[in-house]
Amino acid sequence: MPKEAINNKKVVPLIAANQPEEEKPPFETTTLWDFPRQSYGKKPKGNNKFQGVTPAFIVWNMIQRYTKPGDLVVDPMCGSGTTIDVCEEEGRKVIGYDINPQHPKIKKNDSRKIRLADNSVDMVFIDSPYGDNVSYSDEAADIGKISAEDPKFYEEMEKVAQEIYRILKPGKVLGWLIGDQWVKRKFTPVGFKIYQMLIDNVKFEPIDLICVTRRNQSSNTRIWHYRAQKFNFFLRGFKYLILAKKPEGNDNRNTATKVKWQKYK
Ligand SMILES: C[S@@+](CC[C@H](N)C(=O)[O-])C[C@H]1O[C@@H](n2cnc3c(N)ncnc32)[C@H](O)[C@@H]1O
Repeated sequence: MPKEAINNKKVVPLIAANQPEEEKPPFETTTLWDFPRQSYGKKPKGNNKFQGVTPAFIVWNMIQRYTKPGDLVVDPMCGSGTTIDVCEEEGRKVIGYDINPQHPKIKKNDSRKIRLADNSVDMVFIDSPYGDNVSYSDEAADIGKISAEDPKFYEEMEKVAQEIYRILKPGKVLGWLIGDQWVKRKFTPVGFKIYQMLIDNVKFEPIDLICVTRRNQSSNTRIWHYRAQKFNFFLRGFKYLILAKKPEGNDNRNTATKVKWQKYK
């Protein structure tokens, strides 16, 4: 019998009899994902001091569902390397890029151009900037310098999405983590806008939409909870994990103009 642990809300089989004792996140079965810490297990995944670090259990859940050992996973905006650390521990091949790498294995690259062949990747995970709320670097190509209220933000993200579509094998999955914005009394539904861009413009097929609880954000303080009540607004409580796939078969983005055939006399 494998050992079991009560982890968060579920009873989770953790360890096969012959495996070393190592904590794993719960396998999520609903569209509401919640994990109390950024990382799990003995070895850190990513750097939990990096502002904007991805909760490692998201990457773990994605690769359990959508890849098998030996598959290639790509993260075009890999930051402090959470995706690399999770994938390596789970026996997946992984390539991480970032305009401002914060992990020795990340390759410096602007993700609007990815140097990988068409149809060569088994899964992509990306936790992109949500606008200009976090200052990631001084790099001019950092898309996180553009406000989420500016249409240019979505135009530049679409270039990244087109590259993701190109490198993914048909039928393979993209997970895009994104949060909404409420700044200076204005709400911007960044998640919906990115979702619409992926489905309507890039022609990904929707799989599902997950809400991921935000636990360790900087606004989770007494003063911000007080302000939210006094000035009648809401603090962000969740992010979206958009799950979409590149369609099987023919590229449904074929925009070539139709040839009108003429009959010759
Ligand atoms: C939310 S953080 C990623 C966090 C990362 N998944 C982790 O766990 O540490 C977003 C990242 O996007 C990167 N970024 C912004 N513009 C970029 C671009 N044009 N090309 C590649 N990376 C970019 C930033 O440098 C930042 O590291």
